[in-house]
Amino acid sequence: MKIFNIAIIGCGRIVQKHLDAIDANPQANLVAVCDIIVEKAKKIGLARNISYFTDYITMLTKIDVDIVCVLTDSANHAKIVIDVAPYKKHIIVEKPMALALSDADNMIKACDENGIKLFVVKQNRFNKAIQITRKALEAGRFGKLVLGTVRVRWSRNQEYYDQADWRGTWWGDGGVLTNQASHHVDLLEWMFGEVDSVMCMTKTQLVQIETEDTAVAILKFKNGALGVIEATTATRPSDLEGSLSILGSTGSVVIGGFAVNKIDTWQFVNNNPEDAAVINSFKEQPPNVYGYGHIEYLKNVIYSIENNSRALVEGLDGRKSLELINALYESSETGKEVFLHFKPNRCKLGQRSNQK
Ligand SMILES: NC(=O)c1ccc[n+]([C@@H]2O[C@H](COP(=O)([O-])OP(=O)(O)OC[C@H]3O[C@@H](n4cnc5c(N)ncnc54)[C@H](O)[C@@H]3O)[C@@H](O)[C@H]2O)c1
Repeated sequence: MKIFNIAIIGCGRIVQKHLDAIDANPQANLVAVCDIIVEKAKKIGLARNISYFTDYITMLTKIDVDIVCVLTDSANHAKIVIDVAPYKKHIIVEKPMALALSDADNMIKACDENGIKLFVVKQNRFNKAIQITRKALEAGRFGKLVLGTVRVRWSRNQEYYDQADWRGTWWGDGGVLTNQASHHVDLLEWMFGEVDSVMCMTKTQLVQIETEDTAVAILKFKNGALGVIEATTATRPSDLEGSLSILGSTGSVVIGGFAVNKIDTWQFVNNNPEDAAVINSFKEQPPNVYGYGHIEYLKNVIYSIENNSRALVEGLDGRKSLELINALYESSETGKEVFLHFKPNRCKLGQRSNQK
């Protein structure tokens, strides 16, 4: 059994999910961590008796690694991935892979040129409820796809946005569409396929941030289906739901819970014997909105490297999702329907305000 040495860059809020995934995987071995804030790296380094660094280039020159996880704030992903690529280590980057589409393109190019794989974390695709729904879709059980809806009704107050200077900014984070709802937007596109056009409206309702805390959008898919996105972090007093509904000519599924983790509706014109057990079997309740998907995600990454096969979410998949989010902002800025594929013009994501 090949063991993969893993190093982490960025030891903030999301790092624990990656530590859990590494711990749960017999082929994964954490060898080093890095954070510009030494205490954060040191805490993990000492607890696990591994090396810790404040500079990732130094880490890469000193430690033998196979996979590097980039878990820094989103605005740094592109620079770090492009810096790491020449060291020829496979790279896992947290979502969103970047903010500006041009950055995503440069990251994919750097990894391609260095012959390494780039994986983008979209762990919700691995939720059990999502996986069984995807299987039903691939088996054609929905018939003609009619309408897909994602709803993210989460709660993030001013204190949350004030935790770091990048949160809620155009240059460093984006709003609810880019940060919290990016998983759901990705799931909608993954299930319904290529998007033809979008129309979107955004507002900042309950917090003081540059970007939106609330958005609604209408999507037209190339297969003729329509989609609706409703996303807000202005639900009070606490998280309510993160859901996906798929309606087709021969079946309807609603995956609810607060993190698309629980099947609420599972009905098809043609029933299978297993259908009766689905609602009772697919109702996992993760302790937080990040869910359990990182464990399955890492398994998929390691399988892909070992077998040189396509992973479920690689750089191009991350880019596709980011293009859709850019299109939503382009529409909200212009007040017009935006057709994909397109080159962002008025979308502010990834831009410093003085550059606009
Ligand atoms: N998959 C998910 O569900 C999920 C959930 C939360 C966050 N995220 C993503 O994870 C990323 C990090 O989010 P977070 O909430 O952990 O942020 P955070 O601010 O808590 O952590 C980021 C860490 O990166 C460090 N850092 C920044 N630049 C660095 C550099 N050059 N070298 C080393 N370390 C550096 C910071 O000091 C900080 O400790 C974001 O892109 C976010 O969108 C994904």
